[in-house]
This record gives sequence, structure tokens and C-alpha cells, in this order.
Amino acid sequence: EQTAEIKAHEKVIKLPTHVEETAKQVGTIAQELGFRAYLVGGVVRDILLKKEVWDIDFVIEGDAIKVAQRLAEKHGVDYHPFEEFRTAHIKVNGLKLEFATTRRETYPHPGAYPLVEYAGLKEDLLRRDFTINAMAVCVNPDCFGTLIDYFGGLRDLKDKLIRVLHPLSFVEDPVRILRALRFAGRLGFKLSKSTEKLLINAVSAGLIAKAPKGRLMNELRLALREERIFEILELYKKYGVLEHVLVGIRWSPQLEKKLLSLRDVIAWHRIEFPKEKIDYGWVYLLVLLEESEKGMDFLVDISAPAWVRETYEDIKKNKKELTKKLLSAQKNSEIYLLLKNKPLPFLLILMTEEDIKEKVRVYLEKLRSVKVDLEKFKGLSGRQLGKAIEEEKMKLMDAL
Ligand code: CTP
Repeated sequence: EQTAEIKAHEKVIKLPTHVEETAKQVGTIAQELGFRAYLVGGVVRDILLKKEVWDIDFVIEGDAIKVAQRLAEKHGVDYHPFEEFRTAHIKVNGLKLEFATTRRETYPHPGAYPLVEYAGLKEDLLRRDFTINAMAVCVNPDCFGTLIDYFGGLRDLKDKLIRVLHPLSFVEDPVRILRALRFAGRLGFKLSKSTEKLLINAVSAGLIAKAPKGRLMNELRLALREERIFEILELYKKYGVLEHVLVGIRWSPQLEKKLLSLRDVIAWHRIEFPKEKIDYGWVYLLVLLEESEKGMDFLVDISAPAWVRETYEDIKKNKKELTKKLLSAQKNSEIYLLLKNKPLPFLLILMTEEDIKEKVRVYLEKLRSVKVDLEKFKGLSGRQLGKAIEEEKMKLMDAL
């Protein structure tokens, strides 16, 4: 029956070269053990989209841990089994491989953790979120490379649509509401008409608040890491989802203007200072939280890194005053003195204010990198030297 079903959807795809060899080994091991192995989920989507893939998910009809163990032995590496979930992961050839045993999930009530039982591939795919994430590629030798697409994922990829597999999807797992918008933002896709209706209903029924907080925070962290976080936030705004996650946030024309401005600032920073790596997502979050009363509680909930929490406090405490002083600063040295101890994220956020943007830009592009000729200060040391250098720097920048 399995083979007949696969045949009905037959299309063989070419795997990227760096995945092909490992996938073949997995398929051969599965075959020897009498199992069937498939690439599944996001990796299939990304291969079809011709994106780079390094995190590779397999599902095994059989026992995932056994397959991982044999592959690990073959390569002489460790494998990490999770008995309870019958999963394992290993690293091979620079790839992160995750093996799971195919399973069915049923939800006793909305938002609950699912009950998990063994099931075949089709049910494993059926429990997933969107059609584009619910395709598999067979890797056993007798069907290597065959795409298994029960729900029209390939068509939706071509039509650029996010579509749930069944009407209860958002009810069973409300985190998918945010996931839908994350994928739509990341890929520039739209929600299918019916999925959009289901999502709107799920939001207005207040389902987001029913999801476990930890999972919501985790999803938000993933969104903040996305390159196209701005587009994702736009979708959050469009569908009114952020209000359910982030207490006290209110969309206002000012906030929207600021986010747009931040997008430009970040685009500029990426180009001008490609070596200054910062997680821009957190900077967006700081802007979102700026007016919120409970911002710090939220940063704690989401386990924001220390620099984010510190910058938040700094902004709350000092931004208004600093902005005022910057507005009246005339000389480059004055700007320099006001900004020299501020961390970069703070500076980028200051740049979202139109009337001081130029001054901060000058600081970042010129003032902070003014160099003096140390020869001039021979004989000085310690505090005296430091002071002399600063004075000379300021003289130089005021002459710029
Ligand atoms: N999945 C799901 N519902 C969720 C989370 C995950 O159905 N709430 C399924 C999807 O099939 C997804 C797969 O589990 O493709 C793996 O989840 P994850 O690693 O979160 O997603 P990826 O699609 O791999 O996304 P990314 O590209 O962001 O890693």
C-alpha cells in the first residue's frame, strides 16, 4: 500500500551534493534494518526553494535511535539519543542530523501537550503545521529522492502560500499562528484564503494566550533572529497577534514610524559596518518595548541576554535627557562626549529619531574612529596620557 501511495505522487528530486551522500547512507542503513527513512519538514521545503541546508531532519518508520546509532558507528562519532521521544541527533560531515520515529499526535484539549503514539509517515506528516512543511523525500535505495507530497506542498511553494493541513491546526497548536506569520514574512508568502480566516478566528478567540508561555517565547526568539524580522512584525501588526504575547504593547503611528526608521538604520549599518555583528532582532524588540510599562518583565520572560536588559534600562533612564542634550550639541566634541560610552544598539535606536539621526551618524562614521599621533605624547603616562589623547582627539574632530 505504501509503495502504491508513493507512486501516486511520484516526482524525483535532486538533493544538494553535500546532503546526498549522507542521505544515501541513512537510506541504506534503514533498508538493512527493515525500516524506511525520509527527509522531512523544513529541510525538504528549503531544498525545493534552493536554500542552503545544514540542519537535516529524518523520520524513520521503524526505530530512529537504531538508525542514528549505526550511522554514528560508521562515522566514529557520538550519537545523542532521547529514549523518551525515540529521537536522536548526530553530527556528520558538517551536517546536524536529527532522527525521529514517525508518530501521530493527538491533542486532548486546545493548546495542550499532545499525546504521542507510533504511526506511519502519512500520519506523521498530517500532524504538521503547513503544507510546505509537510513534505518528505524517501532515501531508501529503492525510492531515493522521491518526493512525497500528500497535501499539495509543492503547489503551495510555487504559489507562495502558507496553508494549514486541517481546520483545527491553530486550535491544536496556537503557536502556529505566529509560525504562519514568521514563514510568510521570511519567504514573502501569503496565507491562503481559508488559512487566513482560520488564523483571524483563532486570534480573536484568544487562543494565543492558551499556548504554553515557554513555547511562545521560544517562537518569538526565533522570529527575532529572522533576517526579515521587519516584514514579520508588519504581519504581526496586520493580524493583531503581538498584543497577545507582549503585554502592554500598542501599535501607534509613532511606533510604526520608528520601526520603519529602524529598518533603514539597520540597512545602513549592515552596509557601513559589516564587521560589527549585532542581533538586530533584539534592537527591534527594544523599540517595541520602549513605551511599555512591563518591558523588563517581558525581557526576563523571554530570557533576553544581559546586554539587551542593560540597554533597556539605559534607554528608560537616559534616552530622553540624552536626546535633549544632543539636540542642542553644536560641536563634534560635544556629540562625542555624549555618545562615547553608549553601546551600539542604543545608538542605532537613537538614530530612529529624525532630528538627532545625523549627529549619531557622524559619531559612528567619523568621531568614534578619530586617531591621534601618539608620538606627540612621549613622556606622559596613565591618567595624564589618557586625558591628553582625549583632548587632542576632540580638537581634531572639531576641526573636521
Ligand atoms: N512543526 C509543526 N508544528 C510546530 C512546530 C513544528 O508542525 N508547532 C513541524 C513542521 O513540519 C516543521 C518541523 O516540525 O517543518 C520542524 O520544526 P522546526 O525545526 O521548528 O521548523 P523548520 O521548518 O525546520 O523551520 P526553520 O527553517 O525555522 O528551522
